[in-house]
Amino acid sequence: MALPGHISIIMDGNGRWATQRGLPRAAGHREGVRTLRGIVEHCVCLGVGTLSVFAFSSENWDRPQDEVGLLLDLFMHALNEQVEALHRHGVSLRFVGDLAGFPASLRQTLHAAEQRTAANTALQLLVAANYGGRWDLVQACRKLAHQARAGGLDPGQIDEELFAANLSLAGVPPPDLFIRTGGEQRISNYLLWDLAYSELYFTEVPWPEFTPAQLDDALQWYASRERRFGGLAGVAGQIRES
Ligand code: IPE
Ligand code: IPE
Ligand code: MG
Repeated sequence: MALPGHISIIMDGNGRWATQRGLPRAAGHREGVRTLRGIVEHCVCLGVGTLSVFAFSSENWDRPQDEVGLLLDLFMHALNEQVEALHRHGVSLRFVGDLAGFPASLRQTLHAAEQRTAANTALQLLVAANYGGRWDLVQACRKLAHQARAGGLDPGQIDEELFAANLSLAGVPPPDLFIRTGGEQRISNYLLWDLAYSELYFTEVPWPEFTPAQLDDALQWYASRERRFGGLAGVAGQIRES
């Protein structure tokens, strides 16, 4: 069965899951952390190379202040609690997004977790936090513009490869399989560039209920897809002349 090298997930539906049970939304977020732990372990067992997850979007600041505060606290506590276990499982952590927007204490925790797990190779776990796909495109443009103004770059040299090298996921193969839990069928300003040829899988299952077995269902669905990348089925790609 063809296994995706990179799985990317919008972990959605925590709040609705909790509300439906008469619980505060916070309970859904806490349960969501547990779910992520199980999915990470499953990805390690399966031998998936990269898992990326959307933890907090650049638009999630628009939520009530107490929910934002809770999400940031939970993020920090979950990391402090779980980084050693992740390390033992051989997981390397990388955080992508506008991390400068977070309080210094959280930034420090993120940095320490990255440093602690940097040499691990079993699974690369990318966590998108204060991330927005539009922000990512703009920050790449800004970096290239600075290089051009400094004289180190001729704008004519900017091609897709150079542009991608300035995005948050530089050096990471693009997601093969994208999963969104929680029933919505939209990208919500996630990886706008990187998802160009990902297979898109949407499930009604809210994130707190998403199990390794449900990930297996998604993987089975993925294995049945025919990826053509704009070419034709079963025909080897031609080298395009530019
Ligand atoms: C996803 O669940 C977690 C974050 C966005 C941080 P939601 O909080 O969006 O849950 P719903 O979509 O309201 O159910
Ligand atoms: C996307 O979910 C962001 C994360 C899961 C972190 P949202 O719940 O914020 O997205 P919308 O508002 O339904 O589009
Ligand atoms: Mg949501």
